[in-house]
Amino acid sequence: MKAETHPWEKIYAENKWPYDQPISGFQDIAKVFQDHECKTILDLGCGNGRNALAFENENLMVFGVDIALTGLQMTKVRYAAENQTARLLQCDFRAPLPFRKNSFDGLFSTQVIHHARLEQVRVAIQEARRVLKSGGIAFISVSGKLDEDEEFEEIEPNTYIPLAGNEKGLPHHIFTVEEVEREFGEFVLEDISVRANGHVIAIGAKNRQSGAYPQPHLPRRRCAPASVRPGEKCLANRVAGYHRRAGEHIVGRHLANKERNVNYEIKKQRLGLHINRVRLFLVVLDP
Ligand SMILES: C[S@@+](CC[C@H](N)C(=O)[O-])C[C@H]1O[C@@H](n2cnc3c(N)ncnc32)[C@H](O)[C@@H]1O
Repeated sequence: MKAETHPWEKIYAENKWPYDQPISGFQDIAKVFQDHECKTILDLGCGNGRNALAFENENLMVFGVDIALTGLQMTKVRYAAENQTARLLQCDFRAPLPFRKNSFDGLFSTQVIHHARLEQVRVAIQEARRVLKSGGIAFISVSGKLDEDEEFEEIEPNTYIPLAGNEKGLPHHIFTVEEVEREFGEFVLEDISVRANGHVIAIGAKNRQSGAYPQPHLPRRRCAPASVRPGEKCLANRVAGYHRRAGEHIVGRHLANKERNVNYEIKKQRLGLHINRVRLFLVVLDP
């Protein structure tokens, strides 16, 4: 499926993605980023920029990528309305991301990477880990549930395509908790919980290494020309005006909800055991 014919292009063009406000709890997520001294965040599948700008306003430096140019344009306009300049790039998570390894302190991706076959989702998971610096944090949500109002065809185990509607033909991989544990196995899993809308949120961390701010690696073949001037801001090699806000360490509070939490004890053990590896906090949002 080519970028220009991707269903999400049409969804944004026809204003069929009604969500304009950042996801609930984004401030808690921003605090986690800040508490882990994250400065640069990759919003993988930033869509219309509702979350990217909210994080930006929490003094985080966000780089937004998405396959849908129309979504990126909306992000650009959203930033401009607040006299800010978005750092945007069109790219496809099913291929290697156009960033060098260890580029970002944090990664955020909600309701994006399950939009593919499992092999392609795996690329995204590997790439998320690769572009994160050691010590970085990732919040990733994937779907744990099909939309019951739509008809689907299963095209491989746990991957379905809608037969109608906005996302007709676009594969959706539906995760179970066990599968999340397996597929995110390279991360140190911190938590899995199940919440109401069927999405999985993952929070990951690697230990920090000293390093530069995101240095783009932009081979032409991976970057479609984009009127949002992809990479424009990615070329910055310094961050001006950033200061970390002091904040309560809230990971524990997130994880303390044992009703939702199916591996709290594992999380505690792994926190200590895998200090040099990627840590992954995982929250499955319940059907
Ligand atoms: C459900 S929307 C979520 C958007 C945004 N994360 C949010 O929370 O508002 C899914 C997003 O994933 C993007 N997307 C889907 N497949 C993609 C791909 N292969 N590469 C990059 N982005 C993709 C879509 O364009 C869309 O913006």
